[in-house]
Amino acid sequence: MKDLSPKPGDLEAIETASRDEIAALQLQRMKWSLKHAYENVPFYRDSFDKAGVHPEDLKSLADLARFPFTVKQDLRDNYPFGLFAVPREQIARVHASSGTTGQPTVVGYTRNDLSMWANVVARCMRASGLRPGDVLHNAYGYGLFTGGLGVHGGAERAGLTVVPVSGGMTQRQVRLIEDFRADGITVTPSYALSILDEYAQQGLDPRESPLKVGIFGAEPWTNAMRKEIEDAFDMHAVDIYGLSEVIGPGVANECVETKDGLHIWEDHFYPEIIDPNTGEVLPDGELGELVFTSLTKEGFPIIRYRTRDLTRLLPGTARSMRRMEKITGRSDDMIILRGVNVFPTQIEEQLMDVPALAPHFQIELSRPDRMDVMTVHVELAEGAGNPDAAARDLSGKIKSNVGISAKVQVAGAGQVARSEGKAVRIIDNRPKES
Ligand code: DLL
Repeated sequence: MKDLSPKPGDLEAIETASRDEIAALQLQRMKWSLKHAYENVPFYRDSFDKAGVHPEDLKSLADLARFPFTVKQDLRDNYPFGLFAVPREQIARVHASSGTTGQPTVVGYTRNDLSMWANVVARCMRASGLRPGDVLHNAYGYGLFTGGLGVHGGAERAGLTVVPVSGGMTQRQVRLIEDFRADGITVTPSYALSILDEYAQQGLDPRESPLKVGIFGAEPWTNAMRKEIEDAFDMHAVDIYGLSEVIGPGVANECVETKDGLHIWEDHFYPEIIDPNTGEVLPDGELGELVFTSLTKEGFPIIRYRTRDLTRLLPGTARSMRRMEKITGRSDDMIILRGVNVFPTQIEEQLMDVPALAPHFQIELSRPDRMDVMTVHVELAEGAGNPDAAARDLSGKIKSNVGISAKVQVAGAGQVARSEGKAVRIIDNRPKES
């Protein structure tokens, strides 16, 4: 793998500023953001008033804990434009969730917001090791999803040559990576695996591909998956995190020289970790739910948004800004199987340890009698022989390392559903509670 570490002069001053400088900037910006939300969004005025707090009460960063949380339902209740803090005419762009699981949620950006977004995504591109003039193959979906257009704007800002390929048409993905000599690829890790399969289909060696780095996010993935992808493509794999409510991709990114968790761009997005049950703020280092407050957004300020993502905050390393550990999972994706809490990432880790199985998987939950049953659907790896032995190997590893009994169903090549964007990991066939 190529050395993609930054050279002196590659970084912005704030990326290596002292903690005091960062905190001073955050406090000044947080005061502005709370006031902006309170004065321009009736929802925030009501929620602050009900909680008996006023933006003037914020004297230190820790005072943020006195302000109420915002949750996804608040976005639904204010559909479509109720949380915008500027007149609709000043919104330059909207993005929205697909709405497959309920009322869609809408977010909006002023021109300044789009510019700030491009700047933080450009920072992610540099942290990942890309430099002006590099070619970026952007396979995140374009459209209402923030992935495609969000990465696109930042990649242009970073001086890259952007190929806006979007998701799907996997044969063409491989052809364009090869023909345009892509240095970097931005894509969900699950779709990267489909692209990897396609290399084999076309009889091409992915280790000979021009790719130097893959920037993977929009869904949880493990360090075991990182190793699998890095070995397969002979390239670096780094993690990018974000969510529409906060801005989209580019809230945090790993640095290619350390790959030790994601540096949060804290000069724009203020993180807290809370106990998901009590809402109490936890000290850095403890595992809990990630909460964000935007510090500079004009169109759609967001105060103490509960992401449902579980992680911990760690001190800065390659940059002064704090890191978040790779996300274990979302509280919504936690499976409780006979009393044991399980995340799909834990199954992924075990699967990556079974060479006879391909890295694709889906988890099916069913309740044939009164007991919940987990079936892990997987496929044999190219050239691997014995499906029964592979199934036993995986179920044994799940039993001893995760602590649950799962059935393993080994299907033929190509039988496990492939993703072109975010993977659907859990299929819940249990009867609905009445
Ligand atoms: O997924 C934005 C994005 C696009 C991030 C492209 C990175 C790359 P949403 O569709 O709003 O936005 O989904 C946000 O996806 O709360 C996490 O649960 C999950 N997620 C995003 N990035 C990561 C990551 C985009 N690196 C939700 N690791 C978030 C784990 C992630 N989960």
